[in-house]
Amino acid sequence: MIGSAAMPSTTTQTETGPGRAVPRMFSSAARITSNVRVQGGCHVLEMEPESAPTLPVPGQFVMLSHDDPGFPLLPRPFSLLGARETAEGPRLSFLIMPVGRATGSLCALTEGDVCQVVGPMGHGLEEGLPEGPLACVAGGYGIAPFLFAAERWQATDNPRLASLTVIFGARDAERLSVADRLEATGCTVDLCTEDGSRGTRGRVDTRLEAVLARGEFSSVLTCGPDGMMEAVGGVASRAGVPCRASLETVMGCGYAVCNGCAVGVGDPSDPEGYTYELACREGTLFDEARLQWNLF
Ligand SMILES: Cc1cc2nc3c(=O)[nH]c(=O)nc-3n(C[C@H](O)[C@H](O)[C@H](O)COP(=O)(O)OP(=O)(O)OC[C@H]3O[C@@H](n4cnc5c(N)ncnc54)[C@H](O)[C@@H]3O)c2cc1C
Ligand code: FES
Repeated sequence: MIGSAAMPSTTTQTETGPGRAVPRMFSSAARITSNVRVQGGCHVLEMEPESAPTLPVPGQFVMLSHDDPGFPLLPRPFSLLGARETAEGPRLSFLIMPVGRATGSLCALTEGDVCQVVGPMGHGLEEGLPEGPLACVAGGYGIAPFLFAAERWQATDNPRLASLTVIFGARDAERLSVADRLEATGCTVDLCTEDGSRGTRGRVDTRLEAVLARGEFSSVLTCGPDGMMEAVGGVASRAGVPCRASLETVMGCGYAVCNGCAVGVGDPSDPEGYTYELACREGTLFDEARLQWNLF
């Protein structure tokens, strides 16, 4: 239990909007329990929220901020790499790539430092997931939700794990952060590097084509850079397998207030043929075939 008087008390609330309801959320101070730099420059950051009445599930994200003059005004969104109850309280973990002020500030936190977490937000990846073999395709830190799911399914003896294939790609072996953790779950892991230094040489979309050709899959999920997800969606569509893409749109609030995360989606009832939906509320997983990538 965190005992600092400087930390604000936890609140819970339920937000609803014109679309789907936003999951029940909490806002809490969280104490860093470990920060480990892993391959490729990412950090695995683990923290202990003062209170987390709703533990996030794989596919959800939270907004993180830190009371540091270098931290930007707005909190930043991060997918969960893990969420579990321990004897000492809840633990949340993240795979963070330092690319700017917020991520740099979070990656510099050390054990005992305190940050702020608001969430969980977005929908879990198991919502609406059909039964049957699943292929997940990840680039970079986009592996976080899939590793979270694989470790959870391993811990709970979930039969989904036996028919899970994760295709994980990066420029080189060094950037395949947490690949060993993924392999330890027992799911089928297909690694790809552009320089051939680990796994198959080439891109994840090419690899997916081969994987879908050799077996029956009921669904494809993908998370990573937009160009990669668009290519993955094209491969899945040609193979006749439904694909959902987890968007990492820039976000201002995370709970459907700022409209900063609006993304173009196909809508046959609209005269223009498309409309906008909020990635933080309707997503972050969208049917890839609906996404208007040219409007991003
Ligand atoms: C739902 C969601 C989940 C995410 N999960 C993770 C995660 O698990 N691990 C992680 O490291 N990052 C994740 N991100 C991206 C992370 O939020 C951004 O990298 C972060 O906001 C950048 O903030 P900054 O101040 O460090 O960098 P900034 O100064 O804001 O930007 C630095 C550079 O990063 C680019 N950038 C900013 N935001 C994004 C973004 N959302 N996606 C891609 N590039 C961006 C900018 O264009 C710029 O080039 C996620 C984003 C979303 C929306
Ligand atoms: S991030 Fe503000 S509306 Fe989605």
